[in-house]
Amino acid sequence: MLKTDRLLLRQWTEDDFLPFAEMCCDKEVMAHFPKLQTRDESYEMGKKILSLINERGWGFWAVEIPNQYKFIGFVGLHTPKDSMPFSPCVEIGWRLSKEHWNKGYATEAAEAVLEYAFNTLDLEEVVSFTTLANERSKAVMKKIGMCDSNQNFMHPDVEDFHPQREHVLYKITKSAWQKN
Ligand SMILES: CC(C)(COP(=O)(O)OP(=O)(O)OC[C@H]1O[C@@H](n2cnc3c(N)ncnc32)[C@H](O)[C@@H]1OP(=O)(O)O)[C@@H](O)C(=O)NCCC(=O)NCCS
Repeated sequence: MLKTDRLLLRQWTEDDFLPFAEMCCDKEVMAHFPKLQTRDESYEMGKKILSLINERGWGFWAVEIPNQYKFIGFVGLHTPKDSMPFSPCVEIGWRLSKEHWNKGYATEAAEAVLEYAFNTLDLEEVVSFTTLANERSKAVMKKIGMCDSNQNFMHPDVEDFHPQREHVLYKITKSAWQKN
């Protein structure tokens, strides 16, 4: 569990799966993914994230605004699959429901997650990736001190010639984070 001034990052509960599924069939939230998620796909993803956090003690934590909203999305760490050209690595990622955008929550949560990655897990580097057009996500990466590695890549799960296939890869090392 991680705490920030306004947020709690915590393990998921089953009550989070429904709001998560609603968020993952919102066209704006999913604008930079190849398709919306079905309810079943979102439930499966929620359960998978929950079990990974149980196994490791960390992951894509559920984000709560204490005393206001039990679940506004997720922010956290994940190990991308081996088929990613830059694997093995640990990525930082985020997905919040639209009504909670533009309040600085993603950046606030991500800063706490980076501190956990470097101070608690003692990682050497954290990466993040998104489509070329996902300016909001790239803005969070930059605000938390990540830099474009200029190593764009074709996402192995996105079909050939799909406009969202090419992704940017941002990185931050522990020493760069400490200097920040
Ligand atoms: C990517 C995503 C998490 C970014 O959310 P966001 O709300 O735009 O990001 P932030 O938390 O950094 O907040 C941004 C704005 O909140 C505003 N803001 C309002 N109150 C604030 C506060 N107290 N502190 C900081 N910023 C505040 C700022 O204007 C800030 O924008 P600026 O830094 O350009 O000035 C969100 O757009 C999202 O969930 N997208 C869909 C999922 C997705 O694409 N995920 C990434 C896939 S790889």
